[in-house]
Amino acid sequence: MSDFQNVKACVFDAYGTLFDIHAPTTAIADELGEKAQSLSEMWRAKQLQYTWLRSLMGKYTDFWQITGDGLDYALAAHNIDNPDIRQRLMDLYLTLDAYPDAIATLKLLKEADNATGILSNGSPDMLDAAVQKSGLAPLLDEVLSVQDVGIFKPSSKVYQLAVDRMGVARDEICFVSANAWDVAGAADFGFQVAHLNRFGQPAERLPGTPKAEMKSLSDLPPLLK
Ligand code: 2OP
Repeated sequence: MSDFQNVKACVFDAYGTLFDIHAPTTAIADELGEKAQSLSEMWRAKQLQYTWLRSLMGKYTDFWQITGDGLDYALAAHNIDNPDIRQRLMDLYLTLDAYPDAIATLKLLKEADNATGILSNGSPDMLDAAVQKSGLAPLLDEVLSVQDVGIFKPSSKVYQLAVDRMGVARDEICFVSANAWDVAGAADFGFQVAHLNRFGQPAERLPGTPKAEMKSLSDLPPLLK
């Protein structure tokens, strides 16, 4: 018997969970050389830092702007001054590949009559582009952006948005994220959370404990039976 009880909606984080955020630098790795991985990791770290800092400062701007700001910092830190590379990385970020297990898992959830959704820091235009390109659009009932509440995860206002729009109680939502700090925030808010821990990272020292750890999105449907 799974720990997940009375789940009426499955809500997914987007970047890093459904979409591969390192795909852009991988796509042009031959041009970036040995800087590719370090650039991508710093780009992601700065992107997230800026969301947390702007939330604390009360200075919200959309995730597309922040994604560009994070890339600009990472490019400068790696001494890469090349507008063409910047443009191509941003274009690639708009149409990120979905992880291989995303489509199959969402199909199984829909076949089992689960309501499905995305809850993401991404701006509506970013999410629409990624969802359309990846083929996930017909498998999602809701695509929710923090833009509607003007603050980033892990603010409780973001998680409340999923409750309001999915029309279920917070403890009837199964939330899936590969971002451990997002897992903590969602579990602390009251979702039933599955941590997609692809790389076996240690537990965060934060409030909020997931009900399960998964290596792959395909591990999710059996947990909900
Ligand atoms: C998302 O909100 C946390 O970037 C991640 O999609």
